[in-house]
This record gives sequence, structure tokens and C-alpha cells, in this order.
Amino acid sequence: MATIRDVARLAGVSVATVSRVINQKDSVNPETAGQVLKAVEQLQYEPNAVARGLAGKKMGIIALILPDILNPFFPALARGVEDVAHKKGLTVILGNSDDLGLKESSYIKVLKKKYVDGFIIASNTIREEDVESLRKEGIPIVLLDRGLNTTACPVIRSNNREGAKLAAHHLLGQGCQRIAHIYGPQEFITARERLLGYEEVVQGSKGYSPSLMEPGHFDIDSGRKAVEQLFARHPNIDGIFAGNDLMAIGALKALRERGIQVPEQVKVCGFDGIGLTEITEPELTTVAQPIYEMGRLAAQILLDEIESGISGNSLIELDVTLIPRKSTMKEES
Ligand code: RIB
Repeated sequence: MATIRDVARLAGVSVATVSRVINQKDSVNPETAGQVLKAVEQLQYEPNAVARGLAGKKMGIIALILPDILNPFFPALARGVEDVAHKKGLTVILGNSDDLGLKESSYIKVLKKKYVDGFIIASNTIREEDVESLRKEGIPIVLLDRGLNTTACPVIRSNNREGAKLAAHHLLGQGCQRIAHIYGPQEFITARERLLGYEEVVQGSKGYSPSLMEPGHFDIDSGRKAVEQLFARHPNIDGIFAGNDLMAIGALKALRERGIQVPEQVKVCGFDGIGLTEITEPELTTVAQPIYEMGRLAAQILLDEIESGISGNSLIELDVTLIPRKSTMKEES
């Protein structure tokens, strides 16, 4: 990546002259300006680096890239980010990556040119080199939730494995013996960790079988379909731990369609703690993530770095909370 100094050297002028040309200051004679612009073009210099490096100004904008705000988990995350940014007088630009690497990298490229002061990204597609490249350009970044495990920047997520163990232990404690797990896409570290937590607890139990696990896509329909597959293999399932609340809601729908009583015949537990879990029939037991706090903390860490220029790289795993509700309640003995 060419620097402002490379442009100045090639054009045979000072760095300050390059800045004046880039920022269209009229104090530069046309011939010199032409030399500078020719050098910028030849080196394919990124104009936003000039704005950042020389002007040193902050634009008061941060970018938040999330997988899909149609999943209620993400708007709660965004709210935490926006409340902190707003208090500091900053604006948040939101983008949906749909977990597509190309869409995400084009967002990053475009938003860099808009001089955003920093990025918060909940992504399973961002690569170590993408993070390193932003850091080298002096652009702060914080990874949230699905972000890769990296030491190149701060990462904030819930303690997914412990949360899954909470769910599995709860279902065992409620008398379940054949507990199925509908797991999220394994390219997401959050889904992988939940599957590992579930296995760590149930593998010792007598009802365990690897065929009690079924993949889903963190949405309602895949939760519903997963129940069809699971009950075709194991009609005697008496507990279901779904890797997120939307899949758990889909599971409730499928069980109702099959005339199976929840919690009397099958107990169901989700993961996330989205608001919908309070209005399902029956109300859904879930492992609640501190969603708003995750967003708030990510924004706080990013803003601290923007202001101080000191970059961190801590991995912060926040505790989760089991919220027992009717969908796992034991029958009155
Ligand atoms: O519901 C969406 C899921 O994707 C959540 O569990 C969250 O942790 C993210 O990984």
C-alpha cells in the first residue's frame, strides 16, 4: 500500500504539498498539482489514508457490520453499540454482510474511503490479514460474537461453551435422558463452542448418541426441519437444546404440528435470550447472552482506541444466564 511519502517522493514535492493537493487547497500551482495527482494515480494511493494521516481529523463515524438484522439477536447488539456512540456524538453506519466474505470486504473497502473512524464487525468471514491490514492503516477494529479468534484486535463474545453446558445440565436436571441438539452452522465459532459444550455434558449420559445432533441455520425453518429429522431417527427424544432461540422456536412449531406436548413429553431450551422467547407457547427456556452489553462494550473499547490511538487485543468472554421458563418445567409430582 503506497504511503503519502511515496507520493511526495515520486512527485518531487513535500508531504504537505501532497496534502494540499489532495484536499484541493488552491495554494498549489497547477503544474505541481498535476505532478502530484499523476503520482497518486500511478501509485494507486488510497485518498482516505491522506485524510486520516495528514488531517488527523476524526470523522465521527463508526461502521457496524452484522450478519443479518432480521435475526432479532443483532438489532439488540446494534442498540448497545449505537447508544454508546450517540452519547459520544458519533454516528453509526450499519451494514448487513449476510455472512458473505465478498459483501463484507466490499463494505470495509467502501467505508474506509468514507473515513470511518473504526469498525465493529460480527463476522465469521473476516480473515486475520483483513484485520492486520486495517490496523496497519491505523483504523481501529473490534470483533464481536462470531469474529475469528485473533490477537490482532479486541474480540468480544459470550461464553458459548459454558452456556451450552448450562442448557444441557438444566435439561438433565429436569429429568431428560435423550437430549437432542440442533446446532448452528459450524463455520461460526459460536455454534462450534455450543456443540462442544453440549457434547461435554451429555456424552457421559446413557441416552447419548451422535445421531441426536442435527444441523440448522440459526433460523426458524431449519429448527422446524431439524425436529422432523431427529424424530425420524429417535421418536423417544425427551429434551431438545437448540443452538439459538430462532431454531428453538422452529422446534416448538414442529413439535406442536406433531401433537407432542411441551414440556410434558419434550422439554425445549434455546440460546440467545431474544424477546420473542417471552411470548412463545409455552414460554421458552433459554440461555441469555448479555447482548446489549456486548454491543455497548465493543463500542466503548473501539471509542477508547480511536481517542487514545492505543490498540488492544484482548479476548473478552462475557457470562451468560440460564432463564428457566415453562418449556422445560417439570410436571408437578
Ligand atoms: O441467533 C444468531 C446467533 O448468531 C446468535 O446465537 C449469536 O451468538 C450469533 O452467533
